[in-house]
Formats: sequence, C-alpha cells, structure tokens
Amino acid sequence: MEITLTSPLDMHLHVRDGEMMRLVAPLSAQYFAGAVIMPNLVPPVVDEQSLRAYAARVKNAADDASFLPLMTLFFRNYSESDLRVAKTIPGFFAVKLYPAGVTTNSDMGVQSLRTAEPTLRSMEELDIPLLVHGESHGFVMDREAEFLPAYRYLAEQFPKLRICMEHITTAAAAHVLDEYENLSATITLHHLEFTLDDVLGTAMKPHLFCKPIAKREEDREALLQLALSAHPRVMFGSDSAPHPQHRKECYDCSAGVFSAPVALAGLAKIFARHRALDKLQAFVCDNACRLYGLHPPTKTVLLRDTPLHVPMQYCSYGQSVVPLYAGEQIPWSASIVRE
Ligand code: NCD
Ligand code: ZN
Repeated sequence: MEITLTSPLDMHLHVRDGEMMRLVAPLSAQYFAGAVIMPNLVPPVVDEQSLRAYAARVKNAADDASFLPLMTLFFRNYSESDLRVAKTIPGFFAVKLYPAGVTTNSDMGVQSLRTAEPTLRSMEELDIPLLVHGESHGFVMDREAEFLPAYRYLAEQFPKLRICMEHITTAAAAHVLDEYENLSATITLHHLEFTLDDVLGTAMKPHLFCKPIAKREEDREALLQLALSAHPRVMFGSDSAPHPQHRKECYDCSAGVFSAPVALAGLAKIFARHRALDKLQAFVCDNACRLYGLHPPTKTVLLRDTPLHVPMQYCSYGQSVVPLYAGEQIPWSASIVRE
C-alpha cells in the first residue's frame, strides 16, 4: 500500500537554536514543505531584530530550498506599529501566546488576558493569527479544561481574530472548537497515539512526557475522530520538542516529545489502521493552506507500508536526542519523490 502527499506542513514545531537546531532542523526539512517555528527560545523571539535573525538561522540550518519556515513572535504587549513592522518581515506568520510559566521557556508569557487586549485588538485588525498554548496552572490533568473559558472569551471578544488552539488533548477542547468559526486547532502525533497510561501506567516513559500531558482514552478517541474525519479546522502540528538526552533521562525530565523524524510515518500508520489514508492530505496540508492562504513549496512525499527502523538516538554536533518510537520498527516509511 502507498500514498503520495503533496507539501506536508508541520503547523507547530520547535527547532531550538545553535547545535541542536543544526541537528533537528534538517530532519523536518527532509519531508516537510514548511513548519510553524515556535518562538520559545531563551530569551524568546520578541522583536523585529530577533525574528529576522532567527528566521535566517532556521533557513540556514534547514538548508533546503523547498522548506518554508513560518516564523512566530512570542506574545507580549506589542504596539500596532510593532505588528505592522512584523508583517513586513519575510516568513512572519503569527504570534504565539503562552500563559506565564505553563511550559518550557514560557516565564515571560502572559499574566492576564485582560492586559493583552490592546495587542489582540491590533492583531485582529491586522489579520495576524494568534496561536495559543491553552493550559492553566491547575492540576495537571485539568489544565486544558480549565483554559477552555479563556478560548471562549478570546473567540467571542475577537470574532475576526484567527485563533489556533495548539496541541489539543481533550474531548472537551474538541467541543469548544466546534462552537466558534474563528477557532482552529492543531493535534500532535503523540496525542493521537498515546494516553497517560502509556506515559506512566506501566513504566515511566520520559520520552513521552510533554505539555499538555496525554489524557484519557476517550480524549484520544475524540482527537482521532477530528483528524481521521479531516475536520476542516484541524491541522497537524507535531509539537516536536527536542531536549538533549540527558535532560530527558534524569530526575527532573524536561517536557517535550521529539517526533519530527517519524511524524509522517507515524501518521500513516494511524490513518492506515483506521482506513482513512485519503484524509491525511487534508490534515497535513490542505486545511492549513486554506485557513491561512499558504502556498508552500512543492514537495512530494511517498508513504509506503515498508517498515522503518527508528534509531535509538540522533547524534551530531555534540548533541544527542531520542526520537519517538526509538529502537522500534514502524510499519510505514516516507521517501521523497524527485520530480
Ligand atoms: C515544548 C518545549 O519543550 O518547548 N514542550 C512540550 O512539552 N510540548 C513547549 C510547548 O509547546 O509546550
Ligand atoms: Zn510546542
């Protein structure tokens, strides 16, 4: 069995910086035609200068003319003129909002949505998409559910703002998505594949630990339903978030699943299992292109049911990072079709 995808996009990706970026960026550029690049560096990407410089470093590290980095600014209170300038920067795509302290490198995030209103109003007027990490500071399993009123508030107060609920993990979030036309959502591979039981029900699996944490079986089912039915406002976003191996295999493991190199093969496995391979193109490309008016470079990817042996780790430039499915064999693999 095989299927061809045209210009797959990863609508939520962490490529980091420096040596780690040199290692991971080419692994995304190999099979994806573009990706939304998260701004949670230390310090975060918060101005024109750092955005331009980071965009250039990402392009350089990806080293692939048919890979389009879609760059984001880390949300802070921006003036309208800051945002007008951002719109002129080649590759600028959106602003990513993190509530302060909810995830990796988010300390400079938003303390209160009310104080963010003027910036959100300007973004709405300038038609700059808002990407949101939707978690509260509550009990870990309830954090996304507790944030849902904030999504409703944003969707109602800013009806023309295009708001993306990033990496949704619950059936409740899937319901809120359907309440408002100006909401869209990304879903990761690991949240389609795993529940909290896989993370710590048998042995504790640090490489599956991420924010938001994987939830219950009924939540995973609801996410699968969205992806497999090619819901028109749902897109693939891997949230591939590499951390050095020693930061995952330690007493205070960092949150993040490194899935970029296996993302398309993993999705093919899931969509094939559910006889929904014909819906994969919408999930990994067409929905995003339609929602945001994107025109990614042409990249043709062949997915075939020949097994892929996933390495135990990827090592270069003095970095070592462990991928999702490390050491396993997955029944599908990806290759590039050269025109
Ligand atoms: C991400 C990271 O490591 O930057 N971690 C994660 O668990 N997903 C941040 C994020 O997207 O929450
Ligand atoms: Zn992320």
